[in-house]
Amino acid sequence: MVMNVILSRKSVRKYTSQRIEDTKLEKILEAGRLAPSWVNVQPWKFIVVKNQETKNVLCEAAGGQPQVRNADTVICCIADLDSWNKTNFGKVLAQKGLDEATCESIVTSNLLNPSTLGEYETLLRSVEQLTYAVSYMTLAAEEQGIGCCIVGAMANELTKTSDETAQNVKSLLGLNNRQVLVELLTLGYEEDPKPAKKYRKDTNEVIFYEKIN
Ligand SMILES: Cc1cc2nc3c(=O)[nH]c(=O)nc-3n(C[C@H](O)[C@H](O)[C@H](O)COP(=O)(O)O)c2cc1C
Repeated sequence: MVMNVILSRKSVRKYTSQRIEDTKLEKILEAGRLAPSWVNVQPWKFIVVKNQETKNVLCEAAGGQPQVRNADTVICCIADLDSWNKTNFGKVLAQKGLDEATCESIVTSNLLNPSTLGEYETLLRSVEQLTYAVSYMTLAAEEQGIGCCIVGAMANELTKTSDETAQNVKSLLGLNNRQVLVELLTLGYEEDPKPAKKYRKDTNEVIFYEKIN
């Protein structure tokens, strides 16, 4: 049941040295690949990192957060801004069997294609789509008994904390300037498994019916 997975999932930041089985990792990645997105644009790419030196560089970019260095696997979650351009978006739409005129109207629509609005909107909407894929991967990891932590506090185009570190990471991962490393998903077997504690705002602070009162 999805609800059970939601209830038991938590951020796991300490891992054992046990390797993650390929079959489990593949399921986690597949959950991300199959996530929903706006007009099915799928503006994401995922780079699976197991190499320790690369993990060390990613750790540095994440302000030294040890779960990045110590994870068995780190998935680099990338927003691919070029997904919205005519060629790439058009290909996705054509795959759905849409005719050329409909594809054209979607690709050139301010409402359906944020890249017609500008760079900021493209980035914002790409990150929005990516979030669904990462959420799906966290749930799939939990279902597989693998602990994970989303790491969004890192040097990149969004935080602009250290241009040099962000650029190092980009070149190490082979990213172009239209591919933004938004966050990492660190994965591994939990060192000291404990049940999830949910620290959340009360229901009446976040859920409303009809209007905010
Ligand atoms: C977009 C995003 C970025 C996050 N970045 C970090 C991070 O850089 N480091 C970290 O330790 N946890 C990070 N987290 C995990 C949150 O701190 C965590 O989800 C939150 O405190 C709720 O705890 P839970 O995941 O155990 O339920 C991030 C979570 C999200 C959704």
